[in-house]
Amino acid sequence: MSLLDKIDKNRLPAHIAIIMDGNGRWAKARGLDRGEGHREGISAIRRVVDAASKASVRYLTLYAFSTENWSRPTEEVTGLMDLMVYAISRETPDLKKNGVRIRSIGDMSRLPEYARTALEECIRETAEGTGVTLVLALSYSSKWELATAAKKIAADAVKGVLQEKDIDEETLGNYLTTRGLPDPDLLIRTGGEQRISNFLLWQCAYAEFYFTGIFWPDFDEEALYEAILEYQGRERRYGKTSEQIKND
Ligand code: IPE
Ligand code: IPE
Ligand code: MG
Repeated sequence: MSLLDKIDKNRLPAHIAIIMDGNGRWAKARGLDRGEGHREGISAIRRVVDAASKASVRYLTLYAFSTENWSRPTEEVTGLMDLMVYAISRETPDLKKNGVRIRSIGDMSRLPEYARTALEECIRETAEGTGVTLVLALSYSSKWELATAAKKIAADAVKGVLQEKDIDEETLGNYLTTRGLPDPDLLIRTGGEQRISNFLLWQCAYAEFYFTGIFWPDFDEEALYEAILEYQGRERRYGKTSEQIKND
C-alpha cells in the first residue's frame, strides 16, 4: 500500500503551508554554492505541487522569501529573484495545464519590477485554474502584514468606512494579504529548525506543526504524505475536551 493510499481522503488538510528551509545547508554538505541549493529547491517545489494535487489538497502556501531575507548578501538576493522569474516563466504553461492557480502574499512593492511583472503575468494566466491554489509568500512577513492591516483599518476608520464597534477577528482577517484563504491546517518546516520565522502568525493560530530535518531540496512526495499521515493521527480539539470532540 502506497503512502498516498493510506491517506484518509475525508480528513485531508485543506490548506498546507510550508517553510521551505535548508537549501543552503543542502548545498554546503555537497561542497556546492548556496545558489545550487536554491536551484534544487525549485525541483522540490515542482514535486511537492504535483504531490499535493494528487492528494487533492486545495491550498498550498510556500514561504519562498521573507522580509528578513532582503538582508542576505546582494548576490544571493539577486540570484533568488532571477531564479524565481526563470522558474515562474518556465512553469506557467504546465501550471496552467494542471489547473494550478497561483496567488501571492507579501510586500510585492519591494520586488524588482521584472520579478513583479513575471509574477503578475503568471497569476493572470493561471487565474481560471480549478485545482490546487498555490500561494507564494514572497517578501512576506507576518509582522509586516499585521502592521499594514492595522494601518489600513485605521485609515478606513478615519474615513468612516469602518466603525470601531464592527472591528472583529473577521474584519482583521479581511485586511490581511491572505484574505479569502482558509487558515492553514498543517504547517510544515523542513531543514531542522523549530521556529516560525515570522510566517502566518495570525493564520496559524490553530495549525498543526510538523518539523522535519529533511533539507528542502530533498523533500519529496513521500515526505509530504508522511506529514499528512502524521497530521491525520492528531486530534484537533480547539480548546474542547477529547470527549467533546469524539461526540461531535
Ligand atoms: C531556504 O533555504 C530558502 C530561503 C530562505 C530563500 P536557506 O537558504 O535558508 O537554507 P539554509 O537555512 O541556509 O540551509
Ligand atoms: C525562513 O527561512 C524563510 C523562508 C523559508 C523563505 P530562513 O532560513 O530565512 O529562516 P531563519 O532566519 O533561519 O529563521
Ligand atoms: Mg534557512
